[in-house]
Amino acid sequence: MTDAEKIRAAEAFLKDKLQSGSYMKAHPAELAYRIEHSYRVANIGRTIASREGFDPTEMTVACLLHDVAYCEDFDPETGWSNHGRRSAHIASPFLARLGFAPERVDDMCYGIAIHVDDRADFSGVRTPFAETISDADNIDRFDAYRIYEGLERQNFSRLPLPEKRAHVENTLAQLSRLRELPLATQTAKALWQERMDGYEAFYRRLLAQTDAGAQICSDADFTQKEREYHGGNDADDAAIPGDQRTE
Ligand SMILES: [Fe+2]
Ligand SMILES: [Fe+2]
Repeated sequence: MTDAEKIRAAEAFLKDKLQSGSYMKAHPAELAYRIEHSYRVANIGRTIASREGFDPTEMTVACLLHDVAYCEDFDPETGWSNHGRRSAHIASPFLARLGFAPERVDDMCYGIAIHVDDRADFSGVRTPFAETISDADNIDRFDAYRIYEGLERQNFSRLPLPEKRAHVENTLAQLSRLRELPLATQTAKALWQERMDGYEAFYRRLLAQTDAGAQICSDADFTQKEREYHGGNDADDAAIPGDQRTE
């Protein structure tokens, strides 16, 4: 089986499994989200693999299947945390059938198993390859789609203005902790910092808009907000778009 055939087989397996789940059948939007998320994680994993020297087909297939246990009906409160281990058990015989070597199946499945809560129910080695699966999953959680989804989940557009501001401030307050998330490779670290920068820029802009929607701001207030949005701490760095200082 060629690499392209293995990836196509994994795509079909993922969709077939997820579509067969009774919960997913009853929640088509959740099904669509899980498939889209699996593809995004696979593409992030593939990027990391190609830059770090991992096998891109193995990484693509492992990432595609990291959440395949969503085909099962798990209790949202108690069963969710087990879905990494369940995904590894579902993926393992399928990966062997595709022709991956047993030690590669073990590496792929160990990474799938630990991606939720860092625990597997079988012995394995925490290799950079295995850890890249959870890195790719985390990187997807802080890109544009999840910003939108998070705001939608909070019903942001319908919140009173003070609650909007509180939500934005709480989100920004979590950023410094999130920036320190340990990742396995230099490529994942670079992608993570890029996502954090984009996330912070968006929420700083949203904070400025929240304030500008509440009161008339002085020029100084507004300039300060623009400076915070652009991440400058020093007055000399306070250039804003259109500010063509030439000194
Ligand atoms: Fe997951
Ligand atoms: Fe995931």
